[in-house]
Amino acid sequence: MSRDYRFPDQFLWGAATSAYQIEGHPLADGAGPSIWERFSHTPGRVVYTDTGDRATDHYHRYRADVELMSKLGLTSYRFSIAWARILPDGTGRVNDSGLAFYDKLIDALLEKNIAPMVTLYHWDLPEALDARGGWLNRDVADWFAEYARVAFRAFDDRVPKWVTLNEPWVVMDGGYVSNVLAPGHCSFREAPTVTHNLLRAHGSAVQAYRADGRNEIGLVVNLEPKYPASDDVEDLAATNRADAYMNRQYLDPVFLGAYPEELLAIYGDSMPEIPSEDWPLITTPFDFLGVNYYSRNVVRDAPDTAPLDVARVRQSLHVHTEMDWEVFPAALTRVLVWIKDRYGDIPLYITENGAAFQDPAHVTDGHVDDPLRVSYFREHLRAAHDAIEQGVNLRGYFAWSLLDNFEWSYGYGKRFGIVHVDFATLERTPKASARFYSEVIASHGAVLAGA
Ligand code: FCB
Repeated sequence: MSRDYRFPDQFLWGAATSAYQIEGHPLADGAGPSIWERFSHTPGRVVYTDTGDRATDHYHRYRADVELMSKLGLTSYRFSIAWARILPDGTGRVNDSGLAFYDKLIDALLEKNIAPMVTLYHWDLPEALDARGGWLNRDVADWFAEYARVAFRAFDDRVPKWVTLNEPWVVMDGGYVSNVLAPGHCSFREAPTVTHNLLRAHGSAVQAYRADGRNEIGLVVNLEPKYPASDDVEDLAATNRADAYMNRQYLDPVFLGAYPEELLAIYGDSMPEIPSEDWPLITTPFDFLGVNYYSRNVVRDAPDTAPLDVARVRQSLHVHTEMDWEVFPAALTRVLVWIKDRYGDIPLYITENGAAFQDPAHVTDGHVDDPLRVSYFREHLRAAHDAIEQGVNLRGYFAWSLLDNFEWSYGYGKRFGIVHVDFATLERTPKASARFYSEVIASHGAVLAGA
């Protein structure tokens, strides 16, 4: 007998995007520059000199894009606000035209019964704040709370779910350690300070929301389960180090009120002094956790490999995406169950999941067949359902991404969309994966039982 893959009635079916990756026109209508504006215009930072100047032009085409979401049957849409559109200097003066864009977008979504999930920070720090030290400056927590309050005041009457930060680990590691994302630093010593300030900023925004907000607010982390390459004690210890750095660095502080031991050992004397008032702030309870899941990692001990003495062991017999990320759906189930076991029964959302595979740049006959992406979604949705069967309180799923978009330092070369974008004409064409996802939504998951 085939399995029953139906999801709960209230389950949210969404797709996700972020401001700089899709909007285009980042300086329009009085917006200030962000660190991504500067980074993408710095030669050598992004492949093919791609920038977010035009992106998918969602800034002008948002109505048609919402129409597309509605046709696909989405019940929720996760997007981010560009901080510098509404506070061009990061703090102080509010730019009403910037607010107006999101105001219209939110209304267009609600007209179609699509519930907005709004991320406050998806990596585009106002340049003016980077000039003041950015995430290295303790004051960033107050700057972030000020911005959050402006957004709550403008939109909380219509936004049921807010997210403080998208993937703080990537903000820290990509932006300050491995030098691949804005602002483009390369200093492991900065890591613990950036992490601590991200956590304080998250806590400050949650506290601001508790004062003024009436709906729900959460945090989104990216998790990549770590598997040991062997049973050797060295490999097991390496696995723990990698797990502490990537998966527990943010969750232990917010839920357990402490940094993982392994991490304290890794950071050593670069750990900042932590005033006692920081912990109540960081552990302020919030309403849900969002998990971005793409892949797992098999690791081994690798002495002299900075900074963790850990190396990846590529699983060459498994399918990998265009990002060279191993396709491994079982780790999604495992990570969701792990969260419940380690941190308790907080409502969970899969806030990003998806895959870059080769698609044609131009659509010739109105169709884009993307069987590998269809199979990726099918297997991961099944894995999500397995987690529900194991008692996980999973409330929704967001495909990354609605549209092909600006994939950060990879530019437009990596296509994650369920909807194809021709970057010459900006024409949108739903791929086979969009049609498949539509059928999943319409059947509440029942079609996942098919081959
Ligand atoms: C996540 C980011 C998102 C996108 C996907 C592929 O880390 O949140 O913006 O880049 O990866």
